[in-house]
Parts: sequence; structure tokens; C-alpha cells
Amino acid sequence: MNADCYLITGGTGYLGRALIRQAGHRGLKVAATFHTQPQSLTSDVGWYHLDLREPAAVMSVIHEVQPTVIIHTAFRQYDPDLMAVTGEGAGYVAEAAARVGARLIHISSDVIFDGEKVGAYTEEDPPNPITDYGQAKARAEALVQRYHPAAAIVRTSLIYGFEPIDRHSAFALAIARGERSERLFRDELRCPVFVEDLATALLDLAQSDYYGVINFAGAETLSRYEWGRLLAQAHGLDPDRIVGGFSAESPTPRPRNCALDISRARQLGYRLRGVHEVLRSLGRLSEPV
Ligand SMILES: NC(=O)c1ccc[n+]([C@@H]2O[C@H](COP(=O)([O-])OP(=O)(O)OC[C@H]3O[C@@H](n4cnc5c(N)ncnc54)[C@H](OP(=O)(O)O)[C@@H]3O)[C@@H](O)[C@H]2O)c1
Repeated sequence: MNADCYLITGGTGYLGRALIRQAGHRGLKVAATFHTQPQSLTSDVGWYHLDLREPAAVMSVIHEVQPTVIIHTAFRQYDPDLMAVTGEGAGYVAEAAARVGARLIHISSDVIFDGEKVGAYTEEDPPNPITDYGQAKARAEALVQRYHPAAAIVRTSLIYGFEPIDRHSAFALAIARGERSERLFRDELRCPVFVEDLATALLDLAQSDYYGVINFAGAETLSRYEWGRLLAQAHGLDPDRIVGGFSAESPTPRPRNCALDISRARQLGYRLRGVHEVLRSLGRLSEPV
């Protein structure tokens, strides 16, 4: 692999696939990693098996690829090895990236917060996770900052798209079709981000020298309930099939308000649209819900 190469960890994942598509459109040379899904591999990408739990393997892949840029998307949310994969694994990637002199873009999450803030979280707000997943993502941020201080740490929100459909939308649509019966919380606020907007912003960020935390989320804050109704409508289903609930009904604590303030990203020229704007631009929303 020559020196001008983008390595996407988690290339078989939802965001990873969008990054690979867009990087291909830009004519970038791309290498990507997979963990369990080699069948989805595309031929114009250099593919590497990776297990984030194995520090020597992480170093070996990154040393072999010699990327100029690494966009680290790989993670697991529901896994007995959650902390090893999502937390410690990000540290191994950061160490290896620093060692080969690669620019690192690390993907973090809005769930590093407890969700109790009034208003949106800025880049200066410190993590205070209340879930195992949030703890692993917060640990990842700390390790990335320690081992690769020049890295950009991108905090993002629920990622959605249409081709293919993402897991959050699939969940809401299953409710709207009557295949599931969960309630969507009215008091759980997020800033859903269109996967294509996020991938564009990440590839642009990779070409900048921005370092530290930056929020890349959609421009509109919605409750999961409101978002579920919009998704149902966007897919030609009845929004009234979406039933609202409250976060307190959850058997485990969940952060309620994870709205992210994207003023800095906007000032820097990144285009991160709100859900209504995206749906209208795709011709999927004509009437207000
Ligand atoms: N999706 C969201 O709504 C959301 C919201 C906020 C933040 N984020 C962040 O965005 C990033 C991407 O999320 P996503 O939803 O696109 O992910 P995803 O679709 O769940 O994909 C996860 C990727 O990680 C890989 N992976 C899993 N375990 C691994 C291991 N032990 N070693 C190496 N690779 C491993 C998977 O490989 P295989 O598939 O080959 O097994 C897959 O490519 C994550 O960092 C996540 O924390 C996502």
C-alpha cells in the first residue's frame, strides 16, 4: 500500500460502508478492516481482518497498511468484551496511528454524557457516562487523547440512512408495521445525523489539521418518539402507530438529553443537516407530522 492511503476500521459497519463509498467517489486509496463479515467485501478496497482486542494484531495491520489517515469507526455496543473492543481497542489504534505518523479521526458518541444537562452539549463538556457503552466510549476518548493528542475526536449521534436502511430506522419501522410493540421515549433527545452528511464531514475533517473534540451531529434535536414518527412517514407508514413513552420506563438508566451543539462544526463550514431538511431533500417528506 503506498503512503497516501485511508484506513477505515469497521469497514463492514454502517458508517464504515458509507465512508468507503464516498472515499471511492473522491478517488482516494482505501484500506478497510472487518471482524466477522468478509462476505461483504468489495474488490477495490484492500481488506484486512482485525480484532481490536489484540494489540499486536492492531499494530501489525496498521504497520502493514502504512495509512496516512485512519478513521476509527469499529466498535461493539452489546458484547461481553465491550470495554476491550470499544475502549481499550481504540487506545491500541491510537498508539499504532501515532507510531506510523497517521492522522487519526476517532468516532465517539453522545452517550458519553449523563443526559442531565439543560441545553446541548458542547465540545468542552466532560464525559460523565451512565451506561456500560458510554463508559467504554469515554475510556476510548481518554486513551485516544493520551496516545495521539493530534487526533480529532468526533462525537456524533444516531446515524441513519436509506440505502441501506440503518438499525434505528429499521427498529422504528418495525413498530410502525406492528411487528414490534416498544414505546419510543418522548424525553430522550438526540440529533440524528444522515450517514452521507457525516461521511462527507469526516472525510473533509481528515484533510484538515483540526485536533481535539468536535461535535458532528444533525442540526435538529428530536425525541426518539418524534424521530420515529418522521421515519414512519418518510417510509410511507402511519406515524400514529408509533407510541410514546418515557425514559423512566426503561429497566436500566439511559441518558435522556444527549443533544450536541454543532456551532463549531458549522463555523468551520461542515454541512450537517437536520432530519426535516434531509427528508425533504430526498423527497420523503411533504407534509408536517
Ligand atoms: N450507529 C449509531 O447510531 C452511532 C451513534 C453514535 C456513535 N456511533 C459510533 O459510530 C461508529 C460506527 O458505528 P456503526 O453503527 O457504523 O457501527 P456498526 O455498523 O455496528 O459496525 C461496527 C464495526 O466494528 C467492527 N468490529 C466489531 N467488533 C470488532 C472487533 N473486535 N475488532 C475489530 N472490529 C470490530 C465490525 O466488524 P464486522 O461487522 O466485520 O464484525 C463493524 O465493521 C462507532 O464508533 C459508534 O460508537 C454510532
